[in-house]
Amino acid sequence: PSETGRVLSIQSHTVQIYTDNFVITPTEFCAGYPSFKGQVLNGDQLWDLIDGLEANDLLFYTHLLTGYIGSISFLNTVLKVVDKLRSINPKLTYVCDPVLGDEGKFYVPQELVSVYREKVVPVASMLTPNQFEAEQLTGLRITSEQDGREACNILHAAGPSKVVITSINIDGNLLLIGSHQKEKGQSQQFKILISKIPAYFTGTGDLMTALLLGWSNKYPENLDKAAELSVSSLQALLARTLNDYIKAGHDCQSSSLEIRLIQSQDDIRNPEIKYKAEKY
Ligand code: ATP
Ligand code: MG
Ligand code: NA
Ligand code: MG
Repeated sequence: PSETGRVLSIQSHTVQIYTDNFVITPTEFCAGYPSFKGQVLNGDQLWDLIDGLEANDLLFYTHLLTGYIGSISFLNTVLKVVDKLRSINPKLTYVCDPVLGDEGKFYVPQELVSVYREKVVPVASMLTPNQFEAEQLTGLRITSEQDGREACNILHAAGPSKVVITSINIDGNLLLIGSHQKEKGQSQQFKILISKIPAYFTGTGDLMTALLLGWSNKYPENLDKAAELSVSSLQALLARTLNDYIKAGHDCQSSSLEIRLIQSQDDIRNPEIKYKAEKY
C-alpha cells in the first residue's frame, strides 16, 4: 500500500485533481492542473475535460471519487470516465458517494436511482451511502443495525467490496455500519456509535467520503481502522466548528453550520482515535 497517488474528484460543480497527499484539503490541491469550480458542468463539458487531460497524458489515476451528480447525462459521462480510467489503470479504485438525498427527501432527480443501482454501484470499489441512500439502492427499509448489515451485503453482491453506511438514525443517535467483503459471500462488519450533535452541518458527507478514501488507501485491509480514524477526525472537526459558533454567540439550531476545515488540519492529519469500531 502506498500513501501517494492521484485522485480525480468529480462533482457536478467541481472537478479537482489531487496528488501525493491523500488528505483532501484545499492546501493539497495541485495548482496548475485544470479545475472547474462553481459552475455546473454538463456531461459534454466533463468529457471535454477528460479529452484534454488525455491529450496531455494526464489520465493515470489511482483513485476516482464521485459525489453530488445532478443529472443523468452527467452520471452517464461519469460511467464513461470510469471505463476510460480503468483502461489506463485497471487497478483504479472508484470511491462513490451515491448522493441522492437524506431524511426521506431527494436532492437529485429521482431517475438517478435506477442508474446508480444498475450501472454505477456495479463498478464502484467503495460506496458511502447514508441511510436514505442505502434504502434507495437496496429497496430495503433500514430501521435497525441488522437491516443496515443486510443492506451492506446486498450492495456487496451488486459490486463494491467496501460499503460504509455513514449514518443510520437509531434512537436519536447515529450509527455507522461498515462492511468489507474479502471473499465472496463473506463480509467483515463493524459499527461505530456516534452521539448526534443537535445541529446541522454542511459538507460532512463529502468530507467523510474523502477521509474514508484516504485512510483506506493507507489501511486497505482494515476498513474498521480507516473508519475509526475518519470518524475521529470528523467529530473533532465538528466539535471545533460548534465551539466556534457558540463563542461567536450564534444560535446553532437555527441554521446550518459551515465546517471548519482549514482550522482542523491537525485533526484531519493526525486524529486521536476516540471512536472505536465494534466488530460483529
Ligand atoms: P451530507 O448531508 O453532507 O450529504 P450525508 O447524509 O451524506 O451528509 P451523514 O451520514 O449524515 O452523511 O454524515 C456523515 C458523517 O458526519 C457521519 O458519519 C457523522 O460522523 C457526521 N455527522 C453528520 N452530522 C452529524 C451530527 N449532527 N452529529 C454528529 N455527527 C454528525
Ligand atoms: Mg445525513
Ligand atoms: Na454518506
Ligand atoms: Mg451525502
